[in-house]
Amino acid sequence: MIVSTDGGPPHQPPREGIEYEADLSLRRLRPRLNAEWERSQTPVESINHFELRLKQHWPKLFTLLFELYGQRYDFFYHLEQILLTAARGWADRPETLRELDTHRINEPQWFQSEKLVGGALYVDLFSENLGKLRAQIPYFQKLGLTYLHLMPLFAVRPGDSDGGYAISNYRSVDPRIGTIDDLRALADDLSEVGIVLVLDFVFNHTADDHHWAQRAQAGEREFQDYYYLFPDRTLPDQYEQTLREIFPTVRRGNFTWHDGMRQWVWTTFNSFQWDLNYGNPAVFRSMLDELLFIANMGVDILRLDAVAFIGKKMGTGCENLPEAHTLIRAFNAIIRIAAPGLLFKSEAIVHPDEVVRYVDTEECQVSYNPTLMALLWESLATRKVTLLTRSLSHRHQLPAGTTWTNYLRCHDDIGWTFDDNDAEAIGINAYNHRQFLNAFYTGQFPDSFARGVPFQHNPETGDMRISGTMASLAGLEQAIEADDDDLKELSIRRMLLLYAVTLSIGGIPLLYLGEEWGMLNDYDFVNDPAKAGDTRWIHRPKMQWEFLEELHDDGSIRTRIFTSAQRLIQLRKELPALAGLHMELVATENPHVLGYLRSHEGNRILVLANFSEEPQTVTGNGLRTAGLGRFFQDRISNVTLGTSTDVRLEPYGFVWLERV
Ligand code: GLC
Ligand code: GLC
Repeated sequence: MIVSTDGGPPHQPPREGIEYEADLSLRRLRPRLNAEWERSQTPVESINHFELRLKQHWPKLFTLLFELYGQRYDFFYHLEQILLTAARGWADRPETLRELDTHRINEPQWFQSEKLVGGALYVDLFSENLGKLRAQIPYFQKLGLTYLHLMPLFAVRPGDSDGGYAISNYRSVDPRIGTIDDLRALADDLSEVGIVLVLDFVFNHTADDHHWAQRAQAGEREFQDYYYLFPDRTLPDQYEQTLREIFPTVRRGNFTWHDGMRQWVWTTFNSFQWDLNYGNPAVFRSMLDELLFIANMGVDILRLDAVAFIGKKMGTGCENLPEAHTLIRAFNAIIRIAAPGLLFKSEAIVHPDEVVRYVDTEECQVSYNPTLMALLWESLATRKVTLLTRSLSHRHQLPAGTTWTNYLRCHDDIGWTFDDNDAEAIGINAYNHRQFLNAFYTGQFPDSFARGVPFQHNPETGDMRISGTMASLAGLEQAIEADDDDLKELSIRRMLLLYAVTLSIGGIPLLYLGEEWGMLNDYDFVNDPAKAGDTRWIHRPKMQWEFLEELHDDGSIRTRIFTSAQRLIQLRKELPALAGLHMELVATENPHVLGYLRSHEGNRILVLANFSEEPQTVTGNGLRTAGLGRFFQDRISNVTLGTSTDVRLEPYGFVWLERV
């Protein structure tokens, strides 16, 4: 049987004793640590930096590890291995990164800047390989990006690899797109031009052909303990009572029978993605080693994939468990010691109350904002901002020293993860509303402009998520099919409206590349057997560079979207009021118009955004009382407005107002 975290509460030393135990353990480990410095020939100055941070973070790290693994008879051994792994990570860290570490320790707010604007892409789909991606850096600069998230690019299993999320080796790049050296060279080039590099840390599972999984298959007990294996259905059936199904159209349940081992394997996602057993401290240590290796490539932010799933406990949904938080905090504490310039970004696409629990300077400093994403699409469908406003009113603020990434589309589906109580508070029945949104975004609802497709429809629960590109969901595909200029105009305005919000509301805006010129759904994925079963491939097409060659040809839709996005990005970067997170909602007295005030270090911008295809007005009086004064300039159009009259917004119009 596996060692799991189900073994009841661990023995805790008395609270007042833990600092003493931490200190004592470190003193006992001292000779091993010194031997490690000796072995690695680390310069004294570097050792001192590490030791200073170790002193600061060790009591916390010790407490977290004790909480996780203190009940193990071999806890002290694992503690030692973890400490030595951290020291080795630091010894191997390139000098330039160590300098950056110092810089960022002294400037901890660096990622709150208005200058940070992100883009995400698949290397193979965007530019074929890493070498050619280096040649595209001018494109990112032209668009104004200063943050680049490369979708998983490590070696994967053959055939279906869940878009790179089934990793067989964290230390080598998928040979089809390049080598580790290409990745290092790219990281250097990006850093030279001031673009932050973001990669994934896929740590909930490995591919079934990772060498740990292979050794497990070969019958090695030590590696079987890296995963959750069960000889029969007894325990899986008990677990299933309370588990969700993440990919119900791929495989029912959460376990996969492995014929060779004659065991059931825990596989939350695809059958070839084996969940790692973090109840086993050897797994923690091994993944820490991989984490530090990736960090030392020159990564600035690591996206922690599928964070919600990394703990298991009988009788629970095995999502968002306290152990998941303890594990991430333990990884974070080590990063603060051994690679302190690095930040974590959580990918928790779960209930909004749970999303924020991962966000903390001691856990993940950055988080996806799935609630905002879903509610922006909700507002487009309903033409009303009531639910969005309700949610923002108590969900936007995050702890100091942390921030959101605000996105509209990504490589995954859209799930309607808003809070049912937020909906009910304003008279919306959450179940019916989700049915409506699914119907709307799959184009089933009368007069819908959207062309999305269902993802993981579960006929038993009625659950469904939505796939589709931003442009297709916003109506461009339908408008082009109908060859209707008015509809085209409306769809473009919808996209720009969404950008105007994510670029200004507070947090790091993140574009999914292709969006910037209105990429449409690609229905060809069904011809590839490795993709046909997963509709997310509809919004993961190959980049069509030939389209961008026409970008000078004014008047085309692509040019219009690209240049408008580019201008908004540029403008954001010129407005210090848009740094940080501080946002106050402004009562617009109009259910179609979202209003908020951004302020940062005395700079202020008031944003108004009309989510309907009719013109709307906001009373000048309301704006005056929002505290900005009598005259404003819209920084987007440069028009000056007075508040003695009402402010009129065009269909899907928006303004970024500054007091003059
Ligand atoms: C994350 C990824 C998704 C993947 C899953 C399993 O949610 O974003 O694409 O399928 O994790 O790794
Ligand atoms: C993760 C996300 C979920 C997403 C899935 C991949 O489970 O939490 O929202 O749908 O990955 O699609």
